[in-house]
Amino acid sequence: MKHLLTLDDLPAAELVGRRVFVRVDFNVPIAAGKVADATRLEKALPTLHELQSKSARVILAAHRGRPKGEPDPALSLRPVAETLSALLAAPVAWADDCIGPAAQQVCDNLADGEVCLLENLRFHAGEKANDGDFGAALAALAEIFVNDAFGTAHRAHASIVGVAERLPQRAAGRLLAREVEVLGALLGEPRRPFVAVIGGAKIAGKADTLIHLLPRLDTLVLGGAMANTFLAAQGHDMAASLVEEDRVGMARNILAQAEARDTVVLLPRELVVTDDPEEPGRIETVAVEKVPPGMMAVDVGAAFSQRLAAVLRDAGTVFWNGPLGVFEREPFAAGTVAAARALADSPAYTIVGGGETVAAVRLAGVANRFGHVSTGGGAALELLAGKTLPGVAALEVNR
Ligand code: 3PG
Repeated sequence: MKHLLTLDDLPAAELVGRRVFVRVDFNVPIAAGKVADATRLEKALPTLHELQSKSARVILAAHRGRPKGEPDPALSLRPVAETLSALLAAPVAWADDCIGPAAQQVCDNLADGEVCLLENLRFHAGEKANDGDFGAALAALAEIFVNDAFGTAHRAHASIVGVAERLPQRAAGRLLAREVEVLGALLGEPRRPFVAVIGGAKIAGKADTLIHLLPRLDTLVLGGAMANTFLAAQGHDMAASLVEEDRVGMARNILAQAEARDTVVLLPRELVVTDDPEEPGRIETVAVEKVPPGMMAVDVGAAFSQRLAAVLRDAGTVFWNGPLGVFEREPFAAGTVAAARALADSPAYTIVGGGETVAAVRLAGVANRFGHVSTGGGAALELLAGKTLPGVAALEVNR
């Protein structure tokens, strides 16, 4: 049996005064030099508090954005150190680099229970390449490895798998362990009816998840630009709407599989359409059969929101990933906001995941009314696609 090593596997006495390399996912939006959404920082706090209370010396390592393997000041993690310090109500020491003398000195100066944050791991090409020397340089900073970066667990990078290979005393943090438990349970026997609400711009990146989840679902709800491709697969002319032409066949297949299994598929029957999402001249609500030439779908209609609310009222478990429209623009946010509220009101066990979806539930003011808000977008989808996450596999032992 595979066992995921957790903080419970690290005896408290062995943490006292030890340097613990903690991989976190602090890939957060930053606007005007300040953290714009601290959800991922807040979710890491239980692990950090626990390690501090056990007198460990905490070395935090993270990435931000996708720099090209070299320093990019616009993607520095420095603003994160300030917000984290406020959340922890304690200073967070800062290291200008994640390896070498700058990192070594800051780590050497840590007292028991203190925390430091290293500069963006992806400023070194060795991080993404899982380079051996880079992994060894990171591992040399500490004696124990804790991975709490669920959002990055699908990446086989040096700080995720390379450090785990080099530090035998290793464990999942509380956040990572909880995410794996909650999302993994969806592939077991979730309370029925089991409903997935999948939106967002593209089928690409979600197809494997749809296919793996489908046999387990009672209802599949499709919205967002992704639904356009399914509507095109049903033969509708989507005019200027985003349609992934190369996925229409796949969409047709998924619909056929759902029908063969009696899985209900909820697709919009009317859409909010516009001539230009950036500077709308015309906004109309039309039936899916009647999208006017030159117009594009940007939201689901109110009738869809009502049908969705009815499905959610009777659901046992709901997983939601991806907005149902261009919710960042106020005139096209109604469908996504209504979905967030209906999900919050549902008696079901509700799980939301993905950066945009979490932003949407915050916009709707209901972020604290879900069973679980996942910090993983891609990682959650890969887990639900039945794939092994390298970050999780690196912390598993046979028992
Ligand atoms: C995320 O924000 O989804 C994670 O931090 C992973 O980032 P990545 O897609 O750039 O690897």
